Amino acid sequence: MKFFIDTANLEEIREAASYGFLDGVTTNPSLMAREGISRQDAHIRAICELTPGPVSAEALAVESGAMIEEGRRLAALAPNVAVKLPSTLDGLKATGVLAGEGIKVNLTLVFSPLQALLAAKAGAAFVSPFVGRLDDVGQDGLSLVEEIMTIYGNYAFETEIIVASVRSPQHVLKAALIGADIATIPFKVIGQLAEHPLTDKGVAAFMADQAKAAGK
Ligand code: G3P
Repeated sequence: MKFFIDTANLEEIREAASYGFLDGVTTNPSLMAREGISRQDAHIRAICELTPGPVSAEALAVESGAMIEEGRRLAALAPNVAVKLPSTLDGLKATGVLAGEGIKVNLTLVFSPLQALLAAKAGAAFVSPFVGRLDDVGQDGLSLVEEIMTIYGNYAFETEIIVASVRSPQHVLKAALIGADIATIPFKVIGQLAEHPLTDKGVAAFMADQAKAAGK
């Protein structure tokens, strides 16, 4: 299972990369705005220097022709850029063209298994079902991931599933249990993956016993 970090914050990416298990980065316009970035090219280049893994950069265009132009421009920023496009008919059209040119596309804002099927047929390298946002409206986000996995398995599609809109370690655990390819995880949740109160308690007890034995 691959772990991406879902952020545009350079410090968070640098820190997560230092843990040794970071496989890529996903960004979106909201995450860019959170960092005060309005023109993303230089920032995407900076992120791409921090990881050899895929870095998803989202196109802002909504019409297929403009998406294709923007996608080509984003892909030229660094060899590890994946162009992120919304799962719309325009996005699918642009995906077909960009994928035909060897550009990796991440079809995002996926909320149904049929959207994911179309993404794979269009040649997307990645598809991003948003599990947290489905949970928010009373649906089961991880069930969507299971359905996409079944469909992709039925036809041996190679599109990788990025479990996105991750809100908690439980999302990551469930994604791992069902065998999803990738989870893209906010920095705070990455930290939570490693934590357990009994681990902290155990470390404190070991330190205290060692100090006692040393006569401190
Ligand atoms: O990867 C998609 C993600 O950034 C969306 O997360 O929490 O805004 O639903 P959220």
